[in-house]
Amino acid sequence: MTRIFLGIESSCDDTAAALVRDDRAILASVVAGQTALHADFGGVVPEIAARAHAEKLDICVEQALAQAGLRLDQLDGIAVTAGPGLIGGVLSGVMLAKGLAAGSGLPLVGVNHLAGHALTPRLSDDIAYPYLMLLVSGGHCQFLRVEGPQSFTRLGGTIDDAPGEAFDKVAKLLGLPQPGGPAVEAAALQGDPRRFAFPRPLLDRPGCDMSFSGLKTAVLRQRDALVAEQGGLHRQDRDDICAGFQAAVAEVLSEKTRRALELSPAPVLAVAGGVASNRRLRAALHYVAAKARAGFVAPPLQLCTDNAAMIAWAGIETYDAGQRDGMDLAAHPRWPL
Ligand code: KG4
Ligand code: ZN
Repeated sequence: MTRIFLGIESSCDDTAAALVRDDRAILASVVAGQTALHADFGGVVPEIAARAHAEKLDICVEQALAQAGLRLDQLDGIAVTAGPGLIGGVLSGVMLAKGLAAGSGLPLVGVNHLAGHALTPRLSDDIAYPYLMLLVSGGHCQFLRVEGPQSFTRLGGTIDDAPGEAFDKVAKLLGLPQPGGPAVEAAALQGDPRRFAFPRPLLDRPGCDMSFSGLKTAVLRQRDALVAEQGGLHRQDRDDICAGFQAAVAEVLSEKTRRALELSPAPVLAVAGGVASNRRLRAALHYVAAKARAGFVAPPLQLCTDNAAMIAWAGIETYDAGQRDGMDLAAHPRWPL
């Protein structure tokens, strides 16, 4: 008999609810983004995010149930992101999930947001354990060896900014719109990646740790040098900077991925997170995986970015591994895997 879990996600700037069946069918997935609310502030404002989550969460759950044509009492469990993330949002999600669980008698499972991302390739592509995961988004950047629904080994990650954050900051420096990733990628298509020599931070050091904040500073310096020299930035300059920056990020990520696969060989390399939608990066990672004789899995974009289907799925997997949570389930702003 199949079972259906409700997933609830509110740890950053997306409010989301989804219904997922244990045979991997996504019956409904609702995501209410907050990009417009934060647009004037150049980043996510925690208080604004928390209020928007509190307003939208139960509407998202109702919409998900309506989309699937189901009632709460027809479900088999409730999974909620219990961290890591902005505490206000996580608390709203956890409180709603507890209320729904108490009212319906359904089992409750607290899910780590990072585990949600890391288990997504099993939802989208039904891959087997173990696999190597590169999680690369606006907030995260790490290599995880995934052995089971609750068994993750971190092989390395960024020591400062996440790559998505660097894309967003570079876009801002160059007057491009937010989110910066897609805008920088589009500009880079018209640019020459060899015109500016941007650094490849930490490539000279062993291991899988990465750094991206110096790269952003190098872009700032290059921009200022061009402005001082010629009184402004031409469109071609901007495109060349984007191409050079993107090439540097792709090279760092793919070389560190090569090392991660060497340190911890795995039959499949999987990627997730918003930055994984970058075509240049995908091509570079695909190549690295093929060289290491590993398969390559990149879930569809709507499952790579923040969503609640991944939380419902991780809830099913951790429930099957024996996890149960009660009314004492806490929200953890920090919660390493
Ligand atoms: O996973 P995500 O939706 O949210 C979290 O950070 O959790 O990732 C968003 C990040 C943003 O920083 C955005 O600029 C970046 O992913 N991004 C991209 C691209 N599309 C989105 N970065 C590079 N290239 C892209 N095509
Ligand atoms: Zn995320």
